Amino acid sequence: MEKENLIQQTADYVQSYFEQEGSGHDWWHIYRVWQMTRRIAMKEDANLFFVEMAALLHDLDDWKLTSHSNSKTVAWMNQIRLNESDHTRIQTIIDEVSFKGAEVDTTPNSPEARVVQDADRLDAMGAIGIARTFAYGGHKNRLIFDPEVQPQMHASFSDYQKSTAPTINHFYEKLLLLKDRMNTKTGQKIAKKRHQFMELYLKHFFQEWNMNEQLLTS
Ligand code: NI
Repeated sequence: MEKENLIQQTADYVQSYFEQEGSGHDWWHIYRVWQMTRRIAMKEDANLFFVEMAALLHDLDDWKLTSHSNSKTVAWMNQIRLNESDHTRIQTIIDEVSFKGAEVDTTPNSPEARVVQDADRLDAMGAIGIARTFAYGGHKNRLIFDPEVQPQMHASFSDYQKSTAPTINHFYEKLLLLKDRMNTKTGQKIAKKRHQFMELYLKHFFQEWNMNEQLLTS
């Protein structure tokens, strides 16, 4: 089957799969990551087919959304009859994309994984990233903020996975770290603006929070 055809079929499948998703990992997240990978890949020496396939499939078996396995991705790649070596290549890219804790090294090994990781991380930043972060916090029944709970720099993936911290902490534990961990020039450039906006957002958040504290004590 033509490569373009495979990508389109995969997009259709993923779109129907993520139609009703309330945790910020809905079809439009996948779509944005897909389009962003195309944009970043234009300037990188990366194989576009593997980049696009990995972008489309990257959240299908994500640990945040399902028990940790790659069963749906494998089933889909079997269904469209991709050969074994293509399977492995796409799966390896997907495995390298995820953030696994502030102090866990997740530097990708291939140009394709560098592109998809940047695109996925960019969607966790800026105005859309903020919206997705609170959507995910709500999905997990987390508090928005608790002044008693300090952010933690997780040293292992399992500690990071077990965290139940308030959503604001996630900015310090992940989102504000991303701009310095971009792999590509294009990623770095876009990340800079989105980072600045998150800082501005947090500044306002804490100004408002502290104003309420003062009212309570006056
Ligand atoms: Ni994602």
